[in-house]
Amino acid sequence: MEETKKLYFGTNTKMYKTIADTTKFIEELVEATHDISPEQARLFVIPSFTALAEAQKKLNDSNIMLGAQNMCWEDEGEYTGEISPVMLKEIGIDIVEIGHSERRHVFGETDYQVKKKVEAAIRHGMTALLCIGETKEQKDCNIQDEILSIQLKTALSSIKSTDADKLLWIAYEPVWAIGVNGTPISKSYATKRHKHIRSVLVDILGEETGCSIPVLYGGSVNMDNARILLSDPNINGLFVGRSAWEAKNFNKMLRHILEI
Ligand code: 13P
Repeated sequence: MEETKKLYFGTNTKMYKTIADTTKFIEELVEATHDISPEQARLFVIPSFTALAEAQKKLNDSNIMLGAQNMCWEDEGEYTGEISPVMLKEIGIDIVEIGHSERRHVFGETDYQVKKKVEAAIRHGMTALLCIGETKEQKDCNIQDEILSIQLKTALSSIKSTDADKLLWIAYEPVWAIGVNGTPISKSYATKRHKHIRSVLVDILGEETGCSIPVLYGGSVNMDNARILLSDPNINGLFVGRSAWEAKNFNKMLRHILEI
């Protein structure tokens, strides 16, 4: 199962960076990466909701895609505190991050809610960046592949291959590897999980689409492991947190993996 090797590289700034911080970060990033074409790397930034409209203005003529960190599955309604796909479309969002570990484990999002969000993003023509990953306890019980299968099969059960082909990215982010207390993953563990994810995608979406969906890795990615992880043919990109929150570090890691 060979996968087209196109690179995806981006960051989720979580609940860091105000509008002013995000604007500065994006201005520096656009300047630093202006020579990188979308064919070399599909770059993306996912800031906080309050910074999205300003970020969109700054990214307008750039090669960097803009994402939102979450979204409600309904277009409108009595959902206090939620943001709808229509609202995200209105400000020119390209990607919606769905089911991030912190959404699932801090805020209790379920596989079924994640499924509805993936469907809503695709229905509105935005790329669904579906995040999946097992907890440490699940890994210790050796049920990680079962968990990944359940998360993928639930989220994608009603998605057409023709839509997935254009509007679906996956991020494998093991919960135990994310954040300051996370443990960096080994290459062999990442390889096994990405191979499994690819086979489930093929099962659900068919050989052609299943092999073409970008599958990114995220969780304590840094300058030491970025290139090693990307040497796996089933890892199509990196979804980086804290190691990419300074434009100069984002740019340095990007050039390191592109070997330019
Ligand atoms: P860290 O790279 O800080 O572990 O975060 C990864 C992440 O959560 C990306 O969505």
